[in-house]
Amino acid sequence: MAYSIHENIKQASTMPADFYLDSEVFTRSAESIFARSWHFIGQSAEYPATLNAFPHTLYPGFLEEPILLTRTPEGMRCLSNVCTHRGNLLMADAGKHRQIVCGYHGRRFSLEGQMTHMPEFGEVEDFPAACDHLAQYPLENWNGFYFTSPQPAFPFSEIAEVLDHKVGFLPWEEFRFDATRSRDYLVKAHWALYCDNYLEGFHIPFVHPDLNALLDFGSYYTELYPYLNLQVGLADGATEVFELPRDHEDYGKQVAAYYFWIFPNQMWNVYPWGLSVNVLQPLGPARTKVSFLSYVWDESKLAESAGADLDKVEREDEAVVEAVQRGLRSRHYTRGRYSPTREQGVHHFHRLLSQFLD
Ligand code: FES
Ligand SMILES: [Fe+2]
Repeated sequence: MAYSIHENIKQASTMPADFYLDSEVFTRSAESIFARSWHFIGQSAEYPATLNAFPHTLYPGFLEEPILLTRTPEGMRCLSNVCTHRGNLLMADAGKHRQIVCGYHGRRFSLEGQMTHMPEFGEVEDFPAACDHLAQYPLENWNGFYFTSPQPAFPFSEIAEVLDHKVGFLPWEEFRFDATRSRDYLVKAHWALYCDNYLEGFHIPFVHPDLNALLDFGSYYTELYPYLNLQVGLADGATEVFELPRDHEDYGKQVAAYYFWIFPNQMWNVYPWGLSVNVLQPLGPARTKVSFLSYVWDESKLAESAGADLDKVEREDEAVVEAVQRGLRSRHYTRGRYSPTREQGVHHFHRLLSQFLD
């Protein structure tokens, strides 16, 4: 089924309800959306220098792509974690190895992914061929934050350039993962409904009265880029704001937070104290794991910052998103319309969804 969203927000209708309910569309979106976009896989400090091989599965049970990060003399690589012989998973745990050895029949690979040895294959013709080496995935490093993609439909520079431009001035090398401020939530809703809600500040006065007191909702605005968008939260005076450099395009504005949404399922909330990344892991059409990962660089700014009370805001968002998931099942609801002044981000997301699903 095709989902078309009119390019003119004033004429457009929202994503039809069955997109969020249909399990076949849900399954298809792993390939058509998630396999073709970029995914954050941790900060360099989360890959200890004492080890050199780090297995990881992208979206277990959904995309289910087994990857292996290796540290080589030329830098980090992102390889397939699947043996090219009969498909065994190569590594289960992070470790330090001189080579990668398959535990099934002993095929060996270098940390660069080259097949170096295979027992009992002396008589095999045309061996090894290119496909006997481990597949490589693109690995991008944005200021120490790693991203990869199985089959990217657009270059990573589409993301990096916007982040550089807006928040490149922050001391990213000082950002440290803070486990005490990181947690997972299980939401009984489709992952895209969670995005829809994130992508508009329209609901803030209704759903988040406390947050609304900190942010100047009237001057909250959205900027659209091809594969991400940005909501800028302006402060009223009592809240911590960024000390923007003089040559920054927002210099002079009281910016309390930059809320980046990166297609399709990541949010990068940048505050004066640091970064809160939200990654959505689709578990089912009405089940999503939301991981909050906090990276702090200036503890002193935490108390007065817009992102300090994340837990309360999150609970309020979950409740409304779960109510929408139930509402969509109604025989009397199919789709709605967009506010041209407050829902540009939602419209942008739905346009991208329909483009990637076709
Ligand atoms: S599956 Fe790896 S050596 Fe056979
Ligand atoms: Fe919200």
